[in-house]
Amino acid sequence: MNILVTGGLGYIGSHTCVKLIESGYTPIIIDNLYNSKKSVLKRIEKITGHLPQFYYGDIRDKAYVDSIFKKHSISAVIHFAGLKAVGESVTKPLEYYEVNIYGSICLAQVMRDNKVNNIIFSSSATVYGEDNTPPFIESMPTGKTTNPYGTSKLMVEQIYTDFYQANPQLSICLLRYFNPVGAHPSGLMGEDPQGIPNNLMPYITQVAIGKRECLSIYGNDYPTRDGTGVRDYLHIEDLAQGHVDALKKMNDSGVHIYNLGTGIGNSVLEVIDSFSRACGAPINYKIVARRAGDIAECFADVKKAKLELNWHAKHTLDQMTSDSWHWQVKNPNGYPDE
Ligand code: NAD
Ligand code: WQD
Repeated sequence: MNILVTGGLGYIGSHTCVKLIESGYTPIIIDNLYNSKKSVLKRIEKITGHLPQFYYGDIRDKAYVDSIFKKHSISAVIHFAGLKAVGESVTKPLEYYEVNIYGSICLAQVMRDNKVNNIIFSSSATVYGEDNTPPFIESMPTGKTTNPYGTSKLMVEQIYTDFYQANPQLSICLLRYFNPVGAHPSGLMGEDPQGIPNNLMPYITQVAIGKRECLSIYGNDYPTRDGTGVRDYLHIEDLAQGHVDALKKMNDSGVHIYNLGTGIGNSVLEVIDSFSRACGAPINYKIVARRAGDIAECFADVKKAKLELNWHAKHTLDQMTSDSWHWQVKNPNGYPDE
């Protein structure tokens, strides 16, 4: 069964392609390499023994995407392609809306024209906004987002819901990821941020390997156990498996919304502590002011995914930090250029 994977060479897409192949699906990848490298393909092949079909192109190029649908019989789309840097989205809102919203509309139009009815969309816990109280549950009203990135996810959720209303044969899965971290246990695939990492785990790994001097902890005066921010960190392997499990809903038309998280919140200091054990050395850090837009706590209610998809996260925080470290040590400069 062919699955079109947009953004399939990125962090989450690449791990999902491996799980798809291991589960008997055939991923067909489209990626414009904006935030990934072609050498990821060889790593997927090394792990699975299968080199996926790759199309170098942009999801906004409807004629090109249409030609892929014409060449292959596509059963479902998993749509990862997009821009994801929260801070950058504040300074480049138009670019974020164009890629994330217009790109998602283009893809849906081509799907409609080719009578492909199934799509899984990468949404985010950020759609719960700042006014809801965790654990966040799918039935909560979505909240007020704090940046254009979050707004783009919220708007695509709405657009795809309207797309379903007009086309009730569709099956649309909106997966709300919490904080994906970790790497493939082989050390062959992982997160490869370009420039200064925005997120906690890649920043810690770069401090641990000596690329950066010191981690700045954004605030220790939150109303949490130790004053630092609490998040629901989730192993990338579990997240990837969640997409394979969500494909089960393909035969049920509707809009299906699932949180993908562990349901457990960990503080920044707890992540640092776990990472220090993984790498065998202390992590140099300092406390600085809170980061604009951050909330104190964010973690999922995970009952729905368990009940309906029989999916739950299996990896512990220590496995996440040790796999992140393993990837960093084996690939100090990330993926090779070719
Ligand atoms: P990523 O940047 O590693 O992967 C995205 C991929 O999409 C990249 O390979 C990039 O080159 C490609 N891409 C970007 N714009 C494109 C375009 N116009 N046409 C074709 N390809 C394009 O990001 P990721 O962490 O793998 O995230 C995947 C998806 O999940 C994104 O939509 C992101 O917003 C969402 N998400 C990520 C997180 C997270 O913490 N990583 C959390 C919640 C949601
Ligand atoms: C985690 C915790 C920070 C960096 C973001 C997006 C979300 C989703 C996942 C999208 C917080 C603290 C961080 C640092 C720190 N993304 N921190 N020092 O903000 O929960 O979620 O990524 O694609 O939409 O908003 O993740 O990893 O940035 O932060 O102290 O250098 O670590 O304050 O408490 P966040 P994060």
